[in-house]
Amino acid sequence: YLEEYELAQECRDLISSLPKERGWLATHLYRYQGFWHNSRQLGGVLGCQQHFQAQDTDVLLVTTPKSGTTWLKAIMFTLVNRIHSPVTHEHPLLTNNPHELVPFLELKLYVDTHIPNLTSFSSPRLFSTHLPFVSLPKSVLESGCKLVYLCRDPRDTFVSLWHFTNKLRPQSHGTTSSLEEVFDKFCRGVSLCGPFWDHVLHYWKESLSNPEKIFFLKYEDMKEHPQLHLRRLAEFIGCPFSPEEETKGVVDDILGLCSFDNLSKLKVNVDGKLSSGEENKAFFRQGEVGDWKNYLTAEMVDQLDKIGEEKFYGSGLKL
Ligand code: A3P
Repeated sequence: YLEEYELAQECRDLISSLPKERGWLATHLYRYQGFWHNSRQLGGVLGCQQHFQAQDTDVLLVTTPKSGTTWLKAIMFTLVNRIHSPVTHEHPLLTNNPHELVPFLELKLYVDTHIPNLTSFSSPRLFSTHLPFVSLPKSVLESGCKLVYLCRDPRDTFVSLWHFTNKLRPQSHGTTSSLEEVFDKFCRGVSLCGPFWDHVLHYWKESLSNPEKIFFLKYEDMKEHPQLHLRRLAEFIGCPFSPEEETKGVVDDILGLCSFDNLSKLKVNVDGKLSSGEENKAFFRQGEVGDWKNYLTAEMVDQLDKIGEEKFYGSGLKL
């Protein structure tokens, strides 16, 4: 408890020294190591930076918010545990939201300067984070821990984030925030773990120089060729599908279990809540590519394109 107390104190001191801006909800966002976080999350960031000990067999799922984290968690959980939890009518995903099965470091395990006991996790352990590359706990880079990075077209990411934020807004805070207002913040980088482009670019570069360590995936590619990318993921984490599994159709079983249609209709995801309070259904909206067309003006699209071109110039990355 002393450690938690000291961490909370350190976090308060840090917060009072950081640049801040009004966030998308009523709370402020603070810029730490070049990226924006809310105050609860900052406690978690410091906590996992100082206390999380990665193991060589860990797999860390990294995403920017609303890039398809829920889907990736479901897929990776099912993939990694498929031997002792095969896809049957008793699979843990049928009664648990993916966020309960693969917890966030800074948003769940270490949130609010809590220091968790992780001894009950058996290897290979699966965790997730929205942390930018510069803020990852040191042990993640120093160990053999592998990273799977998932990102998404900024236009769809932004629209998804706008919907999600409006769902989280307590009723008492009244109306939804205007799309224009938060669009401006998003473009200036002021969004949870933004700037979006810097987040993606850094992982992209690292994945190029260290492909054994970081697997880089786009939501749109996963949507278009799910079998291909699931097989690549299995190889990346060192458990490729065996010929017997291929014959039995395990690839399609996993994709079917984790599909938007299947997960979003399960009772747990229709009326359940996370232990942190969010309604599970907030994580399932549409699950499609290109919904931005229904929300963004031509000027907004131009603006996002321009930022992407500038930030990604010369990197070979296009989103
Ligand atoms: P939309 O708001 O565009 O529908 P995250 O999981 O990172 O919070 O991202 C949420 C987005 O992923 C939402 O996008 C959500 O609908 C979509 N999503 C959730 N589960 C999915 C699944 N099983 N397959 C595809 N997309 C999914």
